Amino acid sequence: MRTHPRGGQQSPGEDAGGKNRLTRRRSVSSLVADASGGPLRRTMGLTQLTLLSVGATLGTGIFVVLGQAVPEAGPAVVISFVLAGVTALFSALSYAELAGMIPGAGSSYSYTYATLGELVAWVCGWCLILEYGVSVAAVAVGWGQYVNELLQLTVHWTLPDSLAAPPGTGGVLNIPAAAIVILAMVVLLRGARESAVANTIMVAVKIAALALFCAVAFTAFRAGNFQPLFPLGTAGMSAGAASLFFSYIGFDAASTAGEEAKNPQRDLPRAIILSLGLVTALYCAVALAAVGAMPWQRFEGTEATLSEVLVRSVGGGALWPILLSAGAVVATTSVVLTVQYGQTRILYSMSRDGLVPPVFSTVHPRTGVPRANIVIVSLFVTVLAALVPLGALADATSIGTLFAFTLVNVAVLILRRRSPEAPRSFRVPLSPVTPLLGVACCGYVMYGLGADTWIAFGAWMAVGLAVYGLYGIRHSRLQQLGQADPDAATEETAR
Ligand code: ALA
Repeated sequence: MRTHPRGGQQSPGEDAGGKNRLTRRRSVSSLVADASGGPLRRTMGLTQLTLLSVGATLGTGIFVVLGQAVPEAGPAVVISFVLAGVTALFSALSYAELAGMIPGAGSSYSYTYATLGELVAWVCGWCLILEYGVSVAAVAVGWGQYVNELLQLTVHWTLPDSLAAPPGTGGVLNIPAAAIVILAMVVLLRGARESAVANTIMVAVKIAALALFCAVAFTAFRAGNFQPLFPLGTAGMSAGAASLFFSYIGFDAASTAGEEAKNPQRDLPRAIILSLGLVTALYCAVALAAVGAMPWQRFEGTEATLSEVLVRSVGGGALWPILLSAGAVVATTSVVLTVQYGQTRILYSMSRDGLVPPVFSTVHPRTGVPRANIVIVSLFVTVLAALVPLGALADATSIGTLFAFTLVNVAVLILRRRSPEAPRSFRVPLSPVTPLLGVACCGYVMYGLGADTWIAFGAWMAVGLAVYGLYGIRHSRLQQLGQADPDAATEETAR
C-alpha cells in the first residue's frame, strides 16, 4: 500500500492510498486525535454515561410494547426479553470495544469510517438518522398520547384531536409532540452537564415507576400463570423477541458522548454494558411480574399497558393508571432528551468530516455545545413530530438500527485484523465468534421485518446516496486534503 504526504497529488476518483474515493478511510489515530482535542466540554463520568444510555433505552418499549408481545409469546415473553437482550448484548460488546478505541461523538458512523470507508460510513450515519432523529419524533408522538391520558385521568379533560394528532389521522397539528421536542431543545442548549442532570432525575423516576409496578404486581403473583411456559411454541417466543427488540434500542447512546466524557476510554465500554445489564434485569422483572399477576390469555386483544395490568389484577381504581402514566411521561421525556442529544453529536462528527455542512460542528463558546446544530435538528424533529403519523416508522427505526449494529460487529472483525496492536480498553470476548453471532442475530431480526419496511428503508437509502453524491463526496475533509488520511494507509501498511 502506498502512503502519501498530506496535500499530495491525487488521481481522479482515487485517494492517495490508491483507493477509490468511496472507500477512503479515516485512521483510528486521527479519529482519536479529533476526539481528544475537540471543543466540547468534558463533564460526564461513568454514572452519567450509564444513565445516558438507560435514559435513551427505557421508554415506550417496556411501558407499551410488552402488552403487545405477551399475546405473541405467552408466559415465554420473559424468555423473549432475554433473547432480545442477548441479541443486543452481542452488538453491545462490539460497541464497547470500539467506543473504548475510538471515543469520539460519532458512534458507529466513526467506527465504520475507520474500517469500511467513507461511503459505508455515510450509509451508517444515514441509518443513525433513523435510529436517532426519526425515532425521537416517534417517541415524541407517544409522549403526547401519555400526556393526554394523564390529563384525562387527573382533570378529566383532553386536548382535542385537531391539536393532538397529525393530518390524516383526524388532526391538524400534534402540538404536544412538537412541544416536548422544543422543551428538549431548550435543555440541550443549556449544556451537556445540565442535560445530564435533567436526565439523571428522569431515569430515577422511571426506574422508581417500574419498581413500584413490580412491587405491586408481585403481591398478585401466581406461579400457575407460567404453566405451560410455551403455549405458542418457540416460534411465538421468537416473534415476541423481534417485537421487543425495539425496547433495547438506545443502549448505544453513551457512544455519542465520547467527547464530553471525562475518561472515555475507561468509562464508555463500562457504561454501555452496565446500562444493557440494568435494562435487561428490569425488563425481565417487569415481564415476570406482569404475567405472574395477570394470566397471559387476558392480554389477548387488549394490548394491556402496565397500568391496566395492575387495575385488572390488584384493583386500585385510578391510582395505578395515574402513577404509571406519569412514569411513562417522564420515561419518554428522557428518551426524547437523550436520543435528540445523540443525533446532534453524530451530525457534529459528520460535519467535522465535511460530509454535512459546517454549521453542524460550530460550538458555542459560552455553553460549549453545538448550538446551531441543536436548533436545526430540533426544528426538523419538531416538524416530523407535529405533522407525520409515525407508527410505521418504528419499524424503520428498527431496521436502521439493526443495520448500524451489523456494521459495528463487522468493524470489530476488520479492526482486529487491520490494527491488532491498537490500544483497546475493552475487548469483545471470544472474537470472532461473538461479533459473527452479532451479525447473525441482527440479520435474523431484520429478516423478520415486513416487506414494507424494507421498501421504506430502500427509499431512505436512495435519498441518502443522492445527498452524499451531491454534497458529501465533494466536501469531505479527506477530499479537501486531497488524499486519504495518511495514517489510515500507514496503519494498513503496518499490518
Ligand atoms: N428503547 C426505546 C423505547 O423503548 C426506543 O422507547
